[in-house]
Amino acid sequence: MRIVIGSDHGGYELKEKIKAYFDTEKIDYKDIGTNSNDSVDYPDYGKKVGLAVTKEDFDFGVAICGTGIGISIAANKVKGVRAALVYDETTARLAKEHNNANVIALGGRTTAPEKAISIIKTFMGSTFENRHQTRIDKIKNIEGNE
Ligand code: RB5
Repeated sequence: MRIVIGSDHGGYELKEKIKAYFDTEKIDYKDIGTNSNDSVDYPDYGKKVGLAVTKEDFDFGVAICGTGIGISIAANKVKGVRAALVYDETTARLAKEHNNANVIALGGRTTAPEKAISIIKTFMGSTFENRHQTRIDKIKNIEGNE
């Protein structure tokens, strides 16, 4: 399991707490920033997480901003990204089972660290259900990626 994680300043503190969990569990990850509470622009980090997932060898990405909204919108502009803004274990599980999400977006100001870690654990423990593949193919078609 190899994960890429990135955030803007609104997600920075949550990112650091998730990294501490990855360290404890010896889960391999790459942090693409940001590296402080200084203000940055979430599209830059959504793009970086999206490109890492689609061009490099990661199982999935975690993208965090204040709400998860902006960074999920940005990540979804990268061809091949299926970023899901998840806020509980049910949406995390369904994002994998139904949507085969390859990025999960979280809100550093809206989701508590313990909840975020539980969400990530749930996502990692879920499996895509192949009966939804036709819908995933239709998403690819929207990208002109037939
Ligand atoms: C930055 O202040 C904030 O707008 C950003 O983190 C995010 O919540 C945007 O969707």
